Amino acid sequence: MRNKIVTGLDIGTSTIKVLVAERNGNEWNVLSFAQIPSFGLRRGSVVNVEETSKNIQLLLSGVEKDIGRRINSVFVNIGGSHLHVEPSDGLISVSRADKIISQEDIDRVLEATKSINIPLNEEILDVFPKEFIIDEQRGIKQPLGLTGVRLEAKVVLLCYFQSYFINLTQAVLNTKLQIDDIIPSPIAAAESVLSRQQKEIGSALIDIGSATTSLAVFDEGELIHLAVFPLGSANITNDIAIGLKTDVGTAEDIKKQHGTCGVKSAAATAGKKKMEVFENNYSLSFTKKQLTDIIRPRVSEILDIMQKELKKIGRQELLPGGVVLTGGGAKIPEIKELAKQILKLPIEVGFPKGIGGLDHDPALATVAGLILGSVDYESSGGVAMLGLSPGLFAGLGTKLRRMFRVFIP
Ligand SMILES: Nc1ncnc2c1ncn2[C@@H]1O[C@H](COP(=O)(O)OP(=O)(O)OP(=O)(O)O)[C@@H](O)[C@H]1O
Ligand SMILES: [Mg+2]
Repeated sequence: MRNKIVTGLDIGTSTIKVLVAERNGNEWNVLSFAQIPSFGLRRGSVVNVEETSKNIQLLLSGVEKDIGRRINSVFVNIGGSHLHVEPSDGLISVSRADKIISQEDIDRVLEATKSINIPLNEEILDVFPKEFIIDEQRGIKQPLGLTGVRLEAKVVLLCYFQSYFINLTQAVLNTKLQIDDIIPSPIAAAESVLSRQQKEIGSALIDIGSATTSLAVFDEGELIHLAVFPLGSANITNDIAIGLKTDVGTAEDIKKQHGTCGVKSAAATAGKKKMEVFENNYSLSFTKKQLTDIIRPRVSEILDIMQKELKKIGRQELLPGGVVLTGGGAKIPEIKELAKQILKLPIEVGFPKGIGGLDHDPALATVAGLILGSVDYESSGGVAMLGLSPGLFAGLGTKLRRMFRVFIP
């Protein structure tokens, strides 16, 4: 029997990344990885479908040549600040005469949680149960097979703006690829960098991309909050371009080569030394302090927003599993120290685990998580293609079936 091959496609604002991996027992090996600059997105959402399709096509054809076989379907991310969560609950009477809770009851109560008012142009992507309550007995994680009369569910609903979802699916489907599943970026990233234990005891993932920063908070193994903000590492580049009076390309190079959040004292004392870069036939000189004084306020601003969001959900300084930083923006030196000062929590930079050879780059957390998340997809019965799976994914299955009806002639 051939090993299972899965493709993850991370459509980001600065780059589109594709990873093809092969599963061998419990291990994943990389067959191919490639990335290209992305031009069809604005703040994490696909706004130019044609341009995005063209880039995906280009990327995929290179990877197909590399592995010598066709790629038919992908696990793809959805990002952008239109993604948001809403708390909700549902209540049903258990249907069987013997009052044993069946999967159908669980599906019904989760479906009931979706009866909330959301704007007309929004839809629910997924339902994340926080707890079930059986006849006022709280804190139940798995009600299947238990006995009761009233079954309640407390959930968070993940909502999205319809047009951006349509743009994303259209951009992928135009390339003749099928979609195995659509996973919100921070949930995919969390899959590759947060341990089961961290999710259990309470932890957060912060993905600092180029144009967005996403937060996903977990407790007792479940997602309890998710938010995406329209600010990322590209803002630092723009600040450098303005502050040092240079072009964006030079500013990006300066950020990557010399940038730091400058928290450690050694960096501060070395700060007065003049540095010089030569680019496009001209030279630019600045001190490390000058550069740090541009970078640190912007990184602090991003982390302050995260802190406020954690406060909003009562988790400020209350995450024993700590915070894991991912995305290309997490590569800026000394961000760990700055985040520790601002968030007052244990901080790590998250290098993707579980796929051989990827553990050096936090920018690969999302694409790696798309691959690792495919295991849940399998165990849920293959939602997107079959639309038959029980439980949580049924909603997404329905949604995708509808999208496929719309887009596949
Ligand atoms: N060494 C580095 N130091 C600082 N920043 C870096 C470094 N390497 C990459 N970056 C920044 O990371 C960003 C790209 O990160 P990433 O690939 O996670 O973004 P994306 O997924 O394309 O964007 P988004 O998630 O916002 O849609 C760019 O802004 C880039 O400048
Ligand atoms: Mg990203």
